[in-house]
Amino acid sequence: MNRYDDISMDDWAELNKIEGWFTRNEASAMQSLVRQLSSGAKVVELGSFQGRSSVVIASVLPPGGMLYCVDHFKGSLEHQGNEFKLDDLLSKFTSNIKNHHVDDKIALLVMDTLQAANEFEMESVDLLFVDASHDYESIRADILYWYSKLKVGGLLVCHDYSTYWPGVREAIESLQLEGQVLADSLWSHQKDRSSEEGSPRSEQVVEVVTQDNSEQMNQVIGEILKISEQTNELIRGILSIKEMLTGLQNSRHDVNDKQQIRGEEHLIPMNKKKSENVERCLVR
Ligand SMILES: C[S@@+](CC[C@H](N)C(=O)[O-])C[C@H]1O[C@@H](n2cnc3c(N)ncnc32)[C@H](O)[C@@H]1O
Repeated sequence: MNRYDDISMDDWAELNKIEGWFTRNEASAMQSLVRQLSSGAKVVELGSFQGRSSVVIASVLPPGGMLYCVDHFKGSLEHQGNEFKLDDLLSKFTSNIKNHHVDDKIALLVMDTLQAANEFEMESVDLLFVDASHDYESIRADILYWYSKLKVGGLLVCHDYSTYWPGVREAIESLQLEGQVLADSLWSHQKDRSSEEGSPRSEQVVEVVTQDNSEQMNQVIGEILKISEQTNELIRGILSIKEMLTGLQNSRHDVNDKQQIRGEEHLIPMNKKKSENVERCLVR
C-alpha cells in the first residue's frame, strides 16, 4: 500500500493503455498534488509524449484549471535511434486526451520547452512538471528557464529523479533545490521567497543564456570570416585587373610617345587636326 492509493485498479488499467513511463504510484502522488491546487490553477507539463501523465493531471484539475502541454513531439534525446514520427506521436497524444475526455482542459504548445517559456508571465504557474529530455544540460536549462514563471508557493515536480537517470539528479542537485521524493522517481520542490532569491540563481540563468548566445556568436563570426575571405578575394581580383589596366595604359603611353617622337622627327605639324596628321602619315 502506498501513500497515494487514489487511483483504482480499473482506472489505472485504462490509463496504462497509454504508452508512457508514469507508474501508478507516481500518478496517484501527482493527482494528490493537483487536487490541492486552487480553482483556475495553471499547470505546465514539459514533455507529454502520448499523454499518459497529461491525462493523469488533467482529469483532476480544479474548476477552471488548465494544463499546458509543451512538446515538440520529436522524441527526447534519449529516444534518438528509435523511430519517432511527428504525426504519429502528436496524433496519438490528441486521440488519447480525447478518449479520456480531458481535451477541453488541455492547451497544447507544439514547440521547444525553452521557447515555450516566453509564452508565460513571471510567477503565473502553480505547478510545473518537468519530464522532457533527461540529460543534465536539458533538465538544468528547463528548470532555469522556467523557475521564474512559477508562483511563489508553486510546485516544481520532476520525473525520473533516480539513479537510472543521473543527469536528472545531478542537474537538480547542481541547482541546490531542496525537495523530496513523493513516489518512485517523482520529486517535488516548493518555491518560497528564499528559494527564489537563492537558487536557481539569476547568474545561472545568465550562464545558460550566454552559452546559447556564444554559440550564435560563433556562427555569426564564422559567417563574417567567410564574407571577409570572399571580400579579400574580390579585392585581389580588382587589384590584378587594376595592374593589368595600368600595364595597358603604360604601353599605350609608350606607343603615343613613340608616335609623338616620330611625328616630331618627321615634322608632322602638331597644330593640324589629328585626321590630317594621320593622312600625312599615310601619304608618306
Ligand atoms: C519522457 S517523454 C514524456 C512522458 C510523459 N510525461 C508521460 O509520462 O507520459 C519526453 C517527451 O518530451 C519531449 N521533448 C524532449 N525534449 C524536448 C524539448 N526540448 N522540447 C519539447 N519537447 C521535448 C519528447 O518529444 C517526448 O515526447
